[in-house]
Amino acid sequence: MDQAKLKTLPPEVSIELIEEQLSLPDLNDLCDATDSAIDAGGGFGWVELPAREILERYWQGVVTMPARKLIIGRLDGVICGTAQITMPPNNNQAQAHAAQLNSIFVAPWARQYGLARMIVEHAEKVALEAEFKVLNMDVRETQTAAIALYESMGYVHIGSHPFYANVAGEYIAGRYYYKVIDPQK
Ligand SMILES: CC(C)(COP(=O)(O)OP(=O)(O)OC[C@H]1O[C@@H](n2cnc3c(N)ncnc32)[C@H](O)[C@@H]1OP(=O)(O)O)[C@@H](O)C(=O)NCCC(=O)NCCS
Repeated sequence: MDQAKLKTLPPEVSIELIEEQLSLPDLNDLCDATDSAIDAGGGFGWVELPAREILERYWQGVVTMPARKLIIGRLDGVICGTAQITMPPNNNQAQAHAAQLNSIFVAPWARQYGLARMIVEHAEKVALEAEFKVLNMDVRETQTAAIALYESMGYVHIGSHPFYANVAGEYIAGRYYYKVIDPQK
């Protein structure tokens, strides 16, 4: 075939809320994506690569936990990014309006296609449907791409924590954010 005539199709992007157990291929893709994000230094808290069984159990646990909602992004059908919404415990009536948006990452090979923005937008929609009015989040100050994303989406920086994370014996500061997602709050 004439290579010059081959056209590259734009990648197909899709976002969804996971409501059932993950299929085996999806679980494998999700673990691969997590591995590559941890390797690149942005593994939402993981510093060292965990054993595959631990990662599999982690993701199966996230899907099963009633207090969590898992949103995933696919590029050409392959899971390559996620976000989680963590809901407050039932006893916390004073903060029943606010959920935590956390564990956002996109595998390095799938970055800059707009996936993270779409994942966060979808997470906000899911949180609003679950009747939350505010989302809280925090991030290491070294995650500059994530900070640019959140600030461009209207997350308000409320403060910093100098001892937020410790990686290889070094403290890294963190930034705390909130966003009002319900205009009728
Ligand atoms: C942050 C991250 C999720 C962005 O994923 P992505 O799919 O590449 O992001 P998008 O393509 O949706 O870009 C959305 C916005 O993010 C910001 N952004 C993304 N990559 C950036 C970069 N390399 N430098 C600066 N800003 C960047 C921009 O504001 C961008 O908007 P624009 O395209 O209109 O300029 C990804 O880089 C990542 O996983 N990083 C490591 C993990 C991490 O930091 N997670 C957050 C922990 S809370």
